[in-house]
Amino acid sequence: MKKQVRLVVNGHLWEGEVDVGTTLLDLLRDDMGLTGAKKGCDGGECGACTVLLNGQPVNSCLVLAVSLDGDIVETIEGLDDEESRIIKESYVATGAVQCGFCSPGMIIATKGLLNQNPNPTVEEIETAFVGHLCRCTGYARTVEAVQRAVRLLNEPKQN
Ligand code: FES
Ligand code: FES
Repeated sequence: MKKQVRLVVNGHLWEGEVDVGTTLLDLLRDDMGLTGAKKGCDGGECGACTVLLNGQPVNSCLVLAVSLDGDIVETIEGLDDEESRIIKESYVATGAVQCGFCSPGMIIATKGLLNQNPNPTVEEIETAFVGHLCRCTGYARTVEAVQRAVRLLNEPKQN
């Protein structure tokens, strides 16, 4: 059975019919060609599929597309503002991107965290990464990446 769905993805309205069993992750990847959110476990365990739904990080493999109605989704492809650029640069600069499979989900989680809390403690950063699996970095570099981004974002702007 199919149902009509309407959502805003990276600032663009998307409307169409989707099967009632289609997840947001599959809709993004298969119907919209947005493959930045990765399909790791497809069961809510790894965080690789994380996107922002109305500003909050969610596992898109656990969200049914038919539950969305005018909701706002941001994927890694849509993060192109100054703050996001600094976050991404910080991941690269600190070596928090290695194989990169977890990186889109981690970067989205960082963006979600900083949206709510522009000056997080180490503990708050670690809490934001609960549910994100990274096989490569040992997580210390990821925390360092967020701290670097926070430092740069809080620096007074030069004229
Ligand atoms: S693919 Fe969604 S949590 Fe792993
Ligand atoms: S950088 Fe490889 S899984 Fe995290």
